[in-house]
Amino acid sequence: MLKISKLITLCCILFVVACHEQPAPQNNERSERSKMLIANMKLARDPHTWSKPNDARVTHLHWTASVDFKSKVITATAKYDIQNISGTDLIIFDTKGLQVSATKVDGQPVQFNMGEDKPIIGQSLNIPIKADSKSVEIDYKTSPDAEALLWVEGEKPFLFTQSQAILARTWVPCQDSPGVRITYHADVTVPSDLMALMSAENPQQKSADGKYHFEMDQPIPSYLMALAVGDVVFREIGPRTGVYAIPSLADAAASEFSDMQTMVDEAEKLYGPYVWGRYDLLILPPAFPFGGMENPKLTFATPTIIAGDKSLVSLVAHELAHSWSGNLVTNSTWDDFWLNEGFTVYFEQRIMEAVYGRERSEMLATLSRQDLDATIADISSSEHPEDSKLKLALEGRSPDDGMTDIAYNKGYFFLRLIEETVGREKFDKFLKEYFTSHQFQVMDTETFLDYLRKNLVDAETEKKINIQAWVYEPGLPSNIPSVQSAQLETVDKIRLNWENKKVLIANIPWNNWSYQERYRFISNFSEDVTAADLSDMDRAFDISHTGNNEVLFAWLQQSILKKYEPAYPELEKFLVHVGRRKFVAPLFESMISSGQIELAKNIYTKARPNYHAVTIGTVDEMLAGK
Ligand code: BES
Ligand code: ZN
Repeated sequence: MLKISKLITLCCILFVVACHEQPAPQNNERSERSKMLIANMKLARDPHTWSKPNDARVTHLHWTASVDFKSKVITATAKYDIQNISGTDLIIFDTKGLQVSATKVDGQPVQFNMGEDKPIIGQSLNIPIKADSKSVEIDYKTSPDAEALLWVEGEKPFLFTQSQAILARTWVPCQDSPGVRITYHADVTVPSDLMALMSAENPQQKSADGKYHFEMDQPIPSYLMALAVGDVVFREIGPRTGVYAIPSLADAAASEFSDMQTMVDEAEKLYGPYVWGRYDLLILPPAFPFGGMENPKLTFATPTIIAGDKSLVSLVAHELAHSWSGNLVTNSTWDDFWLNEGFTVYFEQRIMEAVYGRERSEMLATLSRQDLDATIADISSSEHPEDSKLKLALEGRSPDDGMTDIAYNKGYFFLRLIEETVGREKFDKFLKEYFTSHQFQVMDTETFLDYLRKNLVDAETEKKINIQAWVYEPGLPSNIPSVQSAQLETVDKIRLNWENKKVLIANIPWNNWSYQERYRFISNFSEDVTAADLSDMDRAFDISHTGNNEVLFAWLQQSILKKYEPAYPELEKFLVHVGRRKFVAPLFESMISSGQIELAKNIYTKARPNYHAVTIGTVDEMLAGK
């Protein structure tokens, strides 16, 4: 084993050296080489998969599928190229709710068996193989309530998947662990009036017959497999960028995200070439449970970021940044989630600074700190105070439990502290090298820290940063970098004066404020602010009808807490329409914590049928037993 791992290290070193000393390889050549390197790499134990990729591993998928909106079922064949690494007699896949009907090995039918069905991780699919087996074929159907899938009804129906963290197994049998990378090709049949898109090279027009072919020739983990089917059109933004949306949103989307190409260019200047070919954006129905999802080549995004003034485009910077942090260098298991998200928030801020200036990125950082403080307070009084460590221990729990602001914003501030300690120039050089030398590989916290110590941080600097406390201890170390936003400080002063009746509503410069300033103002109301105060503000600025969904969210949350009932019709409308968990969960939580359970239940009855399983799971749990 030791020998193999040494060999792999050597290969990696050679690979890195090769990348530096030869003319830059073409994308294909590069991915071929890295594919060979990663295919045998020994992976860490992942408690959220049944598969044993160190014994037998998939390397390439040919997926043939047909999408039926009537029955809400995908009928498919997953044909995998495999590698039997240890000479095992079994290859194991993850499945959840899949109906497997037949399996073949090297074209010959074989008898499979299904393991025990467990609540979070689902069921293993075990297929007998030989030492020299090369391919496995699985015929199956998805269940109509497959958790990754949302079938949105309407004049034109829409289907989208959300695979992260471990939901890919509900629509494709796979080795559903972030360390296992595959390339894939797909042939998908959909109703002929709809377009199909995947995390792959995509069409820009509908096909006549509803048949689509996809190729993803760079190896990706299963959580980045994605499919969407809907009545969308494409709008070009730059030479390598564009946006897909339903026809009625296409123009608004194209102008909202017109800076996307600049973002890609700036990102490349920072941390090296964008290796995925095109970077496109797909605007999903409002039921999408996240703000964005970094599916390679095609970010999936909520329509709630279309504000009309580009004020929420940092989300695109974030998902774009994942093209390096996450999609190129991938967290080894969900315990290392901060390596995906913390790095991405850091990179997102740098893109925002490059495109829109430091003042804007510092406002964002100030809001990140505000969110982080709230999350730390929540977690430290919860059942799992250890969840505020960067390095998580999620065995036996849903990986979702670890997907908090800690990974994002504690991760961000840790990296910012390193930057401020060693200086930006050195840190940028280090990060660029880190992404290049580990591309298409997994990373765990310990390997990253070793790499950091070898390449950037000496013992003395390490002490100053206090890496141990940041990564392995709960809470926030006292050396957290301070963020300066003069604009948000002014907002805080105005808010205090207004609360103390020293400033009249008419003197609040609301109409000159950016989204970040408005959000800051509303989200920090003290105990003393009353429903009558909200009523006055609403009369002055009509906040209940703002077109900015972040501001509306903060406003609705305050309306609940202060029992400002005139906003409740808007609250209901918002919750029935929007399924983004980041908005939905805190709003229901606020109704519950302020004793308005009946209101919560009434609204949830109407809203729940529109939500994705990810959001339903969270809200069901909140309302259980109430
Ligand atoms: N990869 C995440 C979304 C995610 C995380 C899905 C964990 C499932 C499990 C994505 O990059 C993300 O972080 N989205 C954020 C937006 C971002 C600007 C912080 C979101 O959806 O709110
Ligand atoms: Zn992210």
